[in-house]
Amino acid sequence: MSEIYPVPPRVSTRSDSPIQDMAQYREAYARAQNDPEGFWLDVARRRLRWMKEPTHGLDGSYHTIDEGPFSWFGDGVLNVTESCLDRHVETRPSKTAIIWEGDEPGEVRKLSYRELHKQVCRTANALRELGLKKGERVIIYMGMVPEAAIAMLACARLGAIHSVVFGGFSAEAVRDRVRDCGAEIVITQDKGRRGGKSIPLKEVVDKALEGEQHIKHVLVYRRTGEEVPWVEGRDVWWHEAVDGAEDLCPAVPTMAEDPLFILYTSGSTGKPKGVVHTCGGYLTFTSYTHEIVFDLREHDVYACVADIGWITGHSYIVYGPLANRATTLMFESIPTYPDAGRYWDMVERHGITIFYTAPTAIRALAAQGDEHVDKYDRRTLRVLGTVGEPINPDAWRWYYEIVGDGRCNIVDTYWQTETGGVTISPLAPLTATKPGSATLPLPGIVPLLMDDSDRILRGPGEGRLCMAFPWPGQARTVWGDHPRFVATYFNHYKGYYFTGDGCRRDTDGYHWITGRVDDVLNVSGHRMGTAEFESALVAVDEVAEAGIVGFPHPIKGQGVYAYIVLQPGFAPNDALEAKLHRAVRDQIGAHARVDLFQFVPGLPKTRSGKVMRRILRKVAEGEPDKLGDISTLADPSVVEAIVSGARSLP
Ligand code: PRX
Repeated sequence: MSEIYPVPPRVSTRSDSPIQDMAQYREAYARAQNDPEGFWLDVARRRLRWMKEPTHGLDGSYHTIDEGPFSWFGDGVLNVTESCLDRHVETRPSKTAIIWEGDEPGEVRKLSYRELHKQVCRTANALRELGLKKGERVIIYMGMVPEAAIAMLACARLGAIHSVVFGGFSAEAVRDRVRDCGAEIVITQDKGRRGGKSIPLKEVVDKALEGEQHIKHVLVYRRTGEEVPWVEGRDVWWHEAVDGAEDLCPAVPTMAEDPLFILYTSGSTGKPKGVVHTCGGYLTFTSYTHEIVFDLREHDVYACVADIGWITGHSYIVYGPLANRATTLMFESIPTYPDAGRYWDMVERHGITIFYTAPTAIRALAAQGDEHVDKYDRRTLRVLGTVGEPINPDAWRWYYEIVGDGRCNIVDTYWQTETGGVTISPLAPLTATKPGSATLPLPGIVPLLMDDSDRILRGPGEGRLCMAFPWPGQARTVWGDHPRFVATYFNHYKGYYFTGDGCRRDTDGYHWITGRVDDVLNVSGHRMGTAEFESALVAVDEVAEAGIVGFPHPIKGQGVYAYIVLQPGFAPNDALEAKLHRAVRDQIGAHARVDLFQFVPGLPKTRSGKVMRRILRKVAEGEPDKLGDISTLADPSVVEAIVSGARSLP
């Protein structure tokens, strides 16, 4: 029997959430299942401002996905920024939309809805002057400054499609994305600030764009004022283009199904895919889930400390919260700068009521001691969220008991770049929670577990997590490669969306995500592909072959373990390891790093030449006694060398 945390008593202020108790949750769930179109049409019409309201819900299905994407609200017309800005300027213009906390504690800016609207309009006007048109793509490569959100919304204002690239990615990665989506404009800043360090954003963009003729302009926001290289004619200062632009910019009408953004994410194979989200369905779903999961109220100070370069930043710093007229915080720094009390210092100074972070940060902070938490007044906190990776029960309890003083709701939200928004999660303050469980599916989400024989598993058990029915916030396709979308998510189980995750369901119907069952790594909540690491490593002259797997890491959740086969005549040494680290950083980015290298004489392969990753995984996980059947290996002797030379963290 696992422990159940009952729901702390409801606070007295009224919530406007459409779901007020578990009976209403069950009712909404049943309605969304029995009449998904009616359910979501109601939600979409009620929550968003439409130029033309949609009259029908879903077209297409998982069964017809090979023929093309399914769509939601196909005849609806809107501009998402009218839902996120204009209507709030009419009702509460002076409400704070964004609180920005800079890298140095107390370095704060606040933008009201009126101010944000003005900045978005000016930026949109400036972008239009630079030649940006509806449907064109813009790469945004910035740190956590309000201008990053403004840039996203300005693209949306014009019906242009943004693709935000996390500011830690390398020039190579930026170039790949610029090319893949055919962007003509890049928005960046001189330098970024993070944990007292300077991040050379403009410099990386320059390197990425060397020889890229199709880029018309690079718009550069001045964050630090440091000197940066400049390409005359191509580069434009943000303040010069934006500050003098008109304060009003008409919102360009888009169809509900027009793409809102592309976000690149790692998969099992090949280069990252450009996952496409659309205007109407995505905003409907992020707005709905943001309110029901976090129990959002009018006076909340909501803080999600993710980065805007990941889906969490898109859905739950920018689009969901702004659609809901929330006050949303943007945090430029890291949880340990200047010390491990930074989050709680912010909670006290800003009066944060809802706080959303990743298990990695929780584990890292718990390891630093409770005194960093106790020092600060956290009485305003009401809901504490986590996302990005499974949360281990110890970290959950620390979050609940120490950070939340045993009186806040924990929402462990399970979702993915592809799902657009939260799919399985408690609803604060309604769902009784169990440490480590994402609990129950939200209305409209129909999870299924597949067993080893690819049959649907009923009742309690463990299997591969699929979804049985589309919802409005689900990704529609991979940019420029619909067959890849189909092959990645819909070919494993015909008629179902396969998440790539394993999951256990208990006797209460609660879901426990067990982690990825494919070759995707989740390091500190950052999603990375083993194939990306491998291709960076084999590009090094001395390397013949590389095999990458994950292993359990006490803080990061998963660490990266690299098996390296060197070319004949080369031997491992420190200089070579440093070179391998550099290769990974240059190809992927500073956030990607191998934790353990093991140099081996060969990789374990079957006679047909396929690497048996199961063996690599078991050895990296410290379970060499659980290798299973190795009789089909071409050369079983490599296994001995792999087992005897296995590495582990100090
Ligand atoms: O493995 C799951 C894990 O993160 C993956 C999705 O990563 P990404 O697309 O980068 O999106 C992360 C933010 C939504 C999933 O396939 N994951 C995410 N949330 C959880 C989780 N694993 C367990 N519990 C969660 N709450």
